[in-house]
Amino acid sequence: MKIKNVGIAICAGMMVAALGLAGCSGGSSSAASSSSAAETTEEIMLVNPGKLTIAASLDFPPFENLEGEEAVGFEVDLMKALAEKMGVEAEYLPSTKFDTIIPMITAGGKADVGVSGFTVTEDRKKEIDFTEVIMDSNQGIVVMKDSGYTNVDQLAGKKIGAQSGTTGYDWAVENIEGAEVIPFDEMTAVFAALQSGQIDAIASDLPVVQYYVKNAYTDMEIIEEIPTGEQYAIVVSKDNPALTQALNDAIVEVKADGTYDEIYEKWFGVTAE
Ligand code: ARG
Repeated sequence: MKIKNVGIAICAGMMVAALGLAGCSGGSSSAASSSSAAETTEEIMLVNPGKLTIAASLDFPPFENLEGEEAVGFEVDLMKALAEKMGVEAEYLPSTKFDTIIPMITAGGKADVGVSGFTVTEDRKKEIDFTEVIMDSNQGIVVMKDSGYTNVDQLAGKKIGAQSGTTGYDWAVENIEGAEVIPFDEMTAVFAALQSGQIDAIASDLPVVQYYVKNAYTDMEIIEEIPTGEQYAIVVSKDNPALTQALNDAIVEVKADGTYDEIYEKWFGVTAE
């Protein structure tokens, strides 16, 4: 069952009007599913009026992480900025297990968006809509410094840990010959497993393993960077194309007015390409 609280309906046209696109009138949508500019007359649905409710696996620094009770990170700041442009407040749910976020968004009623370093993939696109790209990424392979492993070929037939439902998990299954790929719920659990010798290596997103190795697990190292060319975007229900559109408009705005660059520099110390 889908519960949709349409308590507040922001007019998607309000934002696009500034860009000289469709205005906000009508509200009927005879047109079909995919998110196109023609659908900007549809109403945005929000599970909690006035708020953009965000589901995230808060274990993915520097994109989203917990500092005490608070969600912090590049994507957290970006979501706050996008929400502000949309005239709503960004609100994070308690950390949500990564592989349950897309099902949660598809089911509806709990969160409006999933924001968790989600790589755009064709498979995921069948279930949900993605906004425009917000970040580029790649994969990285982590081992213990004293392990003796120096390249990924040596990991054939070994135990590789990855977060359940991630592209890193899939990459390891498809590319490390004969490996036993072990899924974990949380990134921190994957690192703990490597430290305790339960696994031989980790496959996960490069910026995140770089962060963890530098700031927490200094007894580990990255032996390989894999240029998968992944791109992160925000996950939105296919039933809410007006929200995707409004987020896309807000992404254009934060990129144009320097907000995106500011946030990027804050978290990565360099300017975005
Ligand atoms: N980019 C990868 C994917 O989309 C991993 C994302 C994991 N995110 C997280 N917050 N733990 O599958």
